[in-house]
Order: sequence, then C-alpha cells, then structure tokens
Amino acid sequence: MNNLMRRAQNVQLWRKYCVKQYTTEAASAALSRGKPNYDEFIAGRQVQAQRSIVVQVSSEKSYSELYNYCSRFGSIVGAHHYCVRHDDDLHYILLEYSTAHEAAAAIDSGATNGDLSGVPVRSPFLWFKAAPGKRGPKLAPNNNNNNNIHHPPTSDLQSVDGTRQLDQEALLSQLRGAESIEQQVQLLHRHTQLNDLGVRMRFLAALQVQQAISGMFPAAQAHPFGSSVNGFGKMGCDLDLILRFDGETGGRKQSSGEPPSRLIYHTKENLSNGRSQTQRHMECFGDMLHLFLPGVCHVRRILQARVPIIKYHHEHLNLEVDLSMSNLSGFYMSELLYMFGEIDSRVRPLTFSIRRWAQACGLTNPSPGRWISNFSLTCLVMYFLQQLRQPILPTIGALVKAAEAKDVRVTEDGINCTFGRDLERVGFQSRNTSSLSELLLQFFEFYSQFDFHNRAISLNEGRQLSKPDHSAMYIVNPLEQLLNVSKNVSLEECERLRIEVRNAAWILESEVENSSLPQSERQEETWGLLNLFKHPEKAIIRPNMFFKPRMVEVSDLFEEKHQQLQSTIGPASTGEA
Ligand code: GTP
Ligand code: MG
Repeated sequence: MNNLMRRAQNVQLWRKYCVKQYTTEAASAALSRGKPNYDEFIAGRQVQAQRSIVVQVSSEKSYSELYNYCSRFGSIVGAHHYCVRHDDDLHYILLEYSTAHEAAAAIDSGATNGDLSGVPVRSPFLWFKAAPGKRGPKLAPNNNNNNNIHHPPTSDLQSVDGTRQLDQEALLSQLRGAESIEQQVQLLHRHTQLNDLGVRMRFLAALQVQQAISGMFPAAQAHPFGSSVNGFGKMGCDLDLILRFDGETGGRKQSSGEPPSRLIYHTKENLSNGRSQTQRHMECFGDMLHLFLPGVCHVRRILQARVPIIKYHHEHLNLEVDLSMSNLSGFYMSELLYMFGEIDSRVRPLTFSIRRWAQACGLTNPSPGRWISNFSLTCLVMYFLQQLRQPILPTIGALVKAAEAKDVRVTEDGINCTFGRDLERVGFQSRNTSSLSELLLQFFEFYSQFDFHNRAISLNEGRQLSKPDHSAMYIVNPLEQLLNVSKNVSLEECERLRIEVRNAAWILESEVENSSLPQSERQEETWGLLNLFKHPEKAIIRPNMFFKPRMVEVSDLFEEKHQQLQSTIGPASTGEA
C-alpha cells in the first residue's frame, strides 16, 4: 500500500511538472532570448513543432507554389528545405506558421489520395500533390479573409540541411586552415553540432507520436531527451524519446484557480507488474508505429534491455529514434548535461573534440557493447572539469544544495532527480582561464594517470572514491548512485582507453609546440587536432611519459583476445566443410 501511495505521489509530482503552463508567447520568448533554461528550451521547441508542418515536394523550386498554397491557412514565418537521399533525392520543406492553430488548419485540410493504398493518418507529415495539368495549384477556400496570393522572397527558404553531416573533406580543409588548435576545437564544434533544423525535425518526430495517440491518450506526452536536446548532439545523432501517459490533466487544460474536475476518466486496472506491463504496452505501440505512422520504418523491439526500447527509422526525417516509456531519469540526466554545457562556453567544444577523437580511434562505437558509450565518455569529461584545481564545473552535490521547492522531481519509480535548476542561484563562477587546447591536453594527461583499477568517479561529489566492485571502469550514476554508468566497459576496452589517452597526450604535446610556429613554417598539412583524428591503424603507440603502468600494445590485446578465443572454441575453423 505504501508503495502504491508513493507511486501515486510521484506521478502527481511528474504531472505538476508537465502541467506547468507554458504559453506559446512565454516559450517562444524564452527561446529567442537566447539563454533559455532546460524547461524553457524544451517547451519552446515543442511549441515551435506545433506551429510547423513538413511537406514533401518535387524539388526546392516548388517553394513558391507551396508558399502560395499554404499561406491561406495562416502566416508562414519560416521555411527550411532539406533532402533525404534514397535512390533519388527526396525533397522536403518544413514550414513554420505563426500559431499552432494555423498549422493545425493546414494539417486538417489534408486529403486522402485515392490512388494510394494505406490508412490515412493525421500527422504533420504531408505531401504536396502536383497541380492538375499545367495550371497553378487549385486553391483551397481561404479562411484568412485575405485573398491575396503571397509572393515569398525565395531567399527566405533556408537551405541549411538538418539531415546531412558536413562533407568530411570540407570539414578537414576548414580545420587545416585554422590558425590555432583552439580555433580548430571551436570550428569542429561549430560545424558538427546539431543545427537548428536538426532540432526542429527531432521535436516534430516527437510531436507526431504524441498526436497520433492523443485521441485515446489525451495525457500522452513524447519528450525528446539525450544528445538531441542536451547540447552535446552532433549532426545525425539519434533521437531519444520518452513517451509518458500521465503528463497532463486531460483533454482540456484546467485554468489556474479552477477547482479540479469531479468527472474522472475510467481506466483499466493494471494487470501485471510495472516492467512486464511496460513491455506489453511497448509491444503494442511498436505494432501501431510500424503499421500506421507515416515515415516510420524498420521498427525493432528491444524489450529485454534494462530500459526496454523500440527503435525505428524515420524516412521523412532520415532519423534513428529510440523510444522508451520508463526512463525518466535519462530525461533529467539530459537536463544536468544541458546545465553543464550552459555553465561554461568551453564545455561543449571540448567534449566535441574528445568524442570525435574517441570515435576516430575506435574507442566508441554507435552500437552498444563492451566499449565506453558517448554518455560515459561525456561523464569523464565533466568529472575532469570538476576536479581541476580551479574547477570549471560545480559538483552535482552543489547543484542539489541549491535546490528550491520548485526543483523537486521524483520519478514514478522513486528516483530523486531534485537539483537546483536556476544557475544564478547556484552562483558558480569559474576562475579557470585555461584555453581549450590546454584543457584538451590536461584531459588526456589526467586520464593517462587515472587509477581505473582501484578508483571510482563521482560527479556528485566531484572526487574519486574507492571502487565498490570489480568493474573495469566505475562511474557512479549521478541520479541512481548505487549504479555504475560504465558497467558495460570491459577490462580490455578500459586498457585500450588508457593507451589511447596516453598516445593522445603525447601527440598533442608536440602539436601544441608545433602550433606556435607560423602557419608557413609548419611541416605538415595535417596538424594540431587533425593528428588526433587519424585512423587507429595509423596511430603509433608512444612510450609512456607520465608514469609507468604495464604497457599493453593494441596488437597485444588482439593477440590476447585471439588466444582466449582459441582456448574456448579451439583452433580457428578454415571455413571448409
Ligand atoms: P549519442 O546518442 O551517442 O549522441 O549520446 P546520448 O547522450 O544521446 O547517449 P544515449 O543515446 O546513449 O543516452 C541518452 C541519454 O540517456 C543520455 O544523454 C543520458 O541523459 C541518459 N543516459 C544514458 N545512459 C544513462 C545512465 O546509465 N544513467 C542515467 N541516469 N542516464 C543515462
Ligand atoms: Mg542518444
């Protein structure tokens, strides 16, 4: 009974959070102010998505015609063109109206196409059918009291694609031409971070799921989290989405001061325990997404994982989506990372360079496994910035101390995610004046010497602790402190990380010296940060210059693995029958 009561209380807290009334104006104003807090950022982007539609067109030349046609539903305040590559390029234009009502009017005008099979679904993803013959588009009745056809300035169509990563050659040439390592780090961040259109597309993917089920589940909310919203996402990053059914008070928003309704929705009693019920629901949603939702394809259900997820590809957005229903702490963890990124302007560029380096030397991998995840690697960077003699980031403990009543968040399963959300109240000011290249070198030096064997990392306390178990790498999960974020990392992968940070420190040290030479005197075209991004085969194992742990060559590790394999499965098969 106690458990049930606690659960109900936690649901109330989550509802209170969701119901926090963000008016369109307030959310938009916070976004355009430039430095929104996490709640404002999320709410602002959600409102922006509600004002938007995505229309497939035959090419970007259709913009004028589309603009004229769609202007009758309301005033178009922004337009973005992007391509998704299939056999041919598929062209899309994202239109933003000034209000959500106008976007809804455009969506509601959608017709079914008699020639095509398939169940029509109301969604913000539409197709602009060619006008019959060579005549202009047949205009729908104008509900705007304005019969003028609008002529869009074609230059208003933004063409910064939100689906494609910058061409590698173009990026490398930018980095080669930089004046300093510092500038390389900044350029890498600027050119690879998720752009505005990429963020808009991710919030539209979330809105599509929410709207698709809103008839039956009026309280449902789909919230993006992870790198799509925490400011550490790069172009092409996946979308992590959490779907909740207990977000709002119901179909109608209650105005403040109004007594709560006495008419309560009947519900079905829960038939099984929390986890198996979530798995059953997810199975059902997986089918629904797969069968009905336009653009959703390659649906996979991974329901046995610690956090069960449904993975799918969105073909109109060229986007990979991971949908969960029970990972609220991941949502709040994204808020913590968002805040860290906002506290100091060096945090995100530095993390981008380190993530890129780890990817280049094969330490991280898009699929989960025994290697370090981008999230754990980001935690390593955050901890490094906390433990500096002049810290660049506060500890999570300091954020918790600054919490007020309005910051209380407890997830449905009782995980306390309360911490101070108001950075001014937290009042942290770093006196550290190191440059990005200095910090990058210090990061590699720090982890060259870190005793992963005996020590655990705590971002809550901003210090090392004794390792409570035999995991190869131990990073205390900031929101569930009995868990280890990097439990999946194997001994070999941890060792490889140590070798690679040592190599990187060695390379960067000589690059820092070299970069002080004028550009004309530099020996090589590939210099500075670029030398950290060389392919692993090209990386040389350097003698350790900081301390003397056991040196393991990467080739030794492969040899070791090979021998282990041989001893378990016997000599390698020749493949012959
Ligand atoms: P990329 O997808 O690699 O770009 O990075 P990501 O930050 O989105 O990582 P991922 O998709 O693996 O995880 C999504 C989010 O879930 C992270 O940003 C965290 O906020 C959260 N998360 C992931 N793993 C953990 C964990 O072990 N504990 C907690 N509390 N949150 C986690
Ligand atoms: Mg992610």
